[in-house]
Amino acid sequence: MRTETFTLAPFEAHHLDGALGLSRAAGWAHRRADWEMIWSLSEGRVALVGDRVVGTALMTPFGDTCSAINMIIVDESQRGRGLGRQLTSAVMELAGDRECRLTATSDGLPLYEKLGFIATHQIVRHQGVIGHVDTPENVGWIGPDALPPVKTLDRAAFGADRDALHDALANEGPFAVIRNGGNIVAFAATRSFGMGEVVGPVVAENAEQARDLIAFILSGKEGRFVRIDIPEQSGLSSLLEGWGLPHGDGVVAMVRGAKGRSQISAVRTFCLASQAIG
Ligand SMILES: CC(C)(COP(=O)(O)OP(=O)(O)OC[C@H]1O[C@@H](n2cnc3c(N)ncnc32)[C@H](O)[C@@H]1OP(=O)(O)O)[C@@H](O)C(=O)NCCC(=O)NCCS
Repeated sequence: MRTETFTLAPFEAHHLDGALGLSRAAGWAHRRADWEMIWSLSEGRVALVGDRVVGTALMTPFGDTCSAINMIIVDESQRGRGLGRQLTSAVMELAGDRECRLTATSDGLPLYEKLGFIATHQIVRHQGVIGHVDTPENVGWIGPDALPPVKTLDRAAFGADRDALHDALANEGPFAVIRNGGNIVAFAATRSFGMGEVVGPVVAENAEQARDLIAFILSGKEGRFVRIDIPEQSGLSSLLEGWGLPHGDGVVAMVRGAKGRSQISAVRTFCLASQAIG
């Protein structure tokens, strides 16, 4: 098996079933629809043995300045022979001059360090069956027509243009917002993912706003399976645990070719859209 020759090819729609097989074997929760969503926002490469998908890698561009490198998986039987390095290098090339961000599992960390990525912070996954959550009164839903201010807030918090992501998220589920004097000052998105639902991204001025946005989305969802990924420093862990979402394995956020931020933002990201996208 280890002597089989492989080729790299553009990641096309007909590779999605093979990709899903790899992520399932790696213990990842993605459904086919979750792969389709991230693939539709990205360019990628697959490693093939014959026509069998034995490796995947995606590069999700965020405007001209930033990108996420993600969905890097190599079939267990093919690991340790350079596929991971070649796939990652290939999608880094697709990123061009953009800053590359990723979140590294313990499997991926040594490879990414060798490719020049630098660890910045921990990401913590909270998931479980949601308990009772009270509905806050200062939060409401918006429709897709109110997306422009949401995109502006996200750009300020994330430091790059994720408009395409927000258009895709708007097709998946509603956005919750907090207004101040009529202006949207904080938002949260939610969608189906894996075994249940995800809340994120959550962008807010402070932890209280983030708590109210998450509570608004989770209230009335008692008994459902929910996942929320947070930067460790967001300070939401004990709140989420109290609602029935214990923390699981952490991953490490990393960056390569970081472009300095020109402005200090009034908002920050309290929950990620996903580990893959940030
Ligand atoms: C991470 C993963 C993609 C690596 O794939 P791979 O094909 O085995 O990687 P490579 O053979 O190209 O190895 C890349 C480099 O990392 C090193 N490396 C890989 N795993 C390592 C480990 N556990 N400890 C130390 N070094 C390691 C290799 O020695 C190699 O270094 P070299 O190129 O200087 O010789 C693979 O382990 C995998 O699919 N894991 C499960 C899914 C996952 O966690 N993906 C990462 C998501 S962030």
